[in-house]
Amino acid sequence: MEGLVTQDHLQQVILAAQGFYARKDRAHDLEHALRVREWGKKLAVEEGADVMIVELAALLHDIGRSGAVEKTHAESSAGLAVNILHKTGYSQDVVQRVKDAIVAHSREGGHEPNTLEAKILYDADKLDFVGAIGLGRLFTLAGVQGWPLVGENSCETFYQEKICGYQEHLFTKTAKVYFEPLFLYMEGFWRELHDERLKLSHSG
Ligand SMILES: [Fe+2]
Ligand SMILES: [Fe+2]
Repeated sequence: MEGLVTQDHLQQVILAAQGFYARKDRAHDLEHALRVREWGKKLAVEEGADVMIVELAALLHDIGRSGAVEKTHAESSAGLAVNILHKTGYSQDVVQRVKDAIVAHSREGGHEPNTLEAKILYDADKLDFVGAIGLGRLFTLAGVQGWPLVGENSCETFYQEKICGYQEHLFTKTAKVYFEPLFLYMEGFWRELHDERLKLSHSG
């Protein structure tokens, strides 16, 4: 039914997703999914991928999260997405391709993205964790998790262990180009934060 897919179908998917995201932490809410959709569209156009598959996968990729830091949500999101897409009337082929992308969007689930659309979803998701938006999401997550700014198990360690690692693991050239300046902005933020802390500790 690819030819029959309309904005109405997409709108139905967004409505269905909204209910799931309303129960998530604000770092993984509908706003996150909508931003990943925008990144996904941009990357799909530039990389020559199927925009509709990427859009649907982006909208639904985190609906199965049960907590802020959770390792099996890619599979649970994929399962819920299959139900939503079938109900909305998408073809089995579309449902399968969206499912393949969602299942592989997180490395923690143990699945590798094998299709261009899956690689783009993976990259689009990571692009929402860099730049000013990325910092905002990091501190939102920290509020839920109770992380301090720096030190053990902190915002900074999450940044160093997770976000810094994304740089080497992006799949598409296009995503790497967008990632770079946003990542440098974050690097500058941490430099500034440490400068401020240093000045304070010397001023007493
Ligand atoms: Fe996720
Ligand atoms: Fe996500």
